[in-house]
Amino acid sequence: MTYKVAFSFADGKTLFCHVQNNELLLDAALRSGITLPMDCREGVCATCQGRCDSGQYTQDYVDDEALSANDLAQRKMLSCQTRVKSDAAFYFDFDSSLCNSTGPTQHQGKVSRLDRVSDSTAILHLMLEGLEGGLDYLPGQYARLRVPGTDLSRSYSFANAPGGNTLEFLVRLLPDGVMSNYLRERCQVGDVIPFEAPLGTFYLRHVDRPLTLVAGGTGLSAFLGMLEQMAARGGCGQPVHLYYGVRNAQDLCELKRLDALSQQIPEFRFIPVVSDEQAAWAGKRGYIVDHMDARALAQAPADIYVCGPPPMVESIKDWLQGQALSSVRLHFEKFADSSVSLI
Ligand code: FES
Repeated sequence: MTYKVAFSFADGKTLFCHVQNNELLLDAALRSGITLPMDCREGVCATCQGRCDSGQYTQDYVDDEALSANDLAQRKMLSCQTRVKSDAAFYFDFDSSLCNSTGPTQHQGKVSRLDRVSDSTAILHLMLEGLEGGLDYLPGQYARLRVPGTDLSRSYSFANAPGGNTLEFLVRLLPDGVMSNYLRERCQVGDVIPFEAPLGTFYLRHVDRPLTLVAGGTGLSAFLGMLEQMAARGGCGQPVHLYYGVRNAQDLCELKRLDALSQQIPEFRFIPVVSDEQAAWAGKRGYIVDHMDARALAQAPADIYVCGPPPMVESIKDWLQGQALSSVRLHFEKFADSSVSLI
């Protein structure tokens, strides 16, 4: 049996390798050309330390001087002593350049479909070219797509789980955006789109608390990938609430897909929220924070993931600060509305 392992670094790059059953993580990384820093290889010096963000693992020996009980509780680990027991993701607090690695790579895909899924949103489907076994990425990460006919690139979160030979991206159609104009005016099935991936550090960590996901507009894209992966694994063992905020009801998209996911993921609920008070809409109105359950978040530890435009992310951060929720872990990704490039 082999497991797929992601290594994320402080510079936002992610590298992948396969780990054999019972193989030490450090050995697997070195075999794949990922030269993680190391020294003693005996669990003492802590040079090879990182943190397991998701997945199951064991460690052979960890010296008290290398990692404390508190470190271990935070899932810090030593690569030279770690054996993974499932697919897993690890984080290292240094740049990937320390590992002699080139990081994200250039690929290309062919347009296989373009669906208009709301007044303001399209889903671009790309068929991967020259990548046997699909592209390695973590749901929540993004790719930088070159806009055909230009030398400009734009960034979009993957809207589906990895594993197949098709990539999906939710794209907000702007009145005059370079990608929007291409999709509206020139895009044809068969067009070749070069892209760089995977990029970004916004991905689902180890789930051991209730999850609150907050999407603003096409920020939904990152969560569709996470939820698809969760569904494929039969859930995550915790309640999952997705708040999905848009300005107008016509901007909502992929509701049927979310509905299907709610049948597949135990304890998953999604709550669409429309901010325009005048909109013809029978569901929840206003801002997402008007509907978040502060009392529930105060009563039990929780993880919150936010992906959307900067003002929305800031409003969620301000709201959390105002509630003094000390046991909430926050992860967020901001993207600029004008270009949908992540910042
Ligand atoms: S290399 Fe020293 S603890 Fe792993």
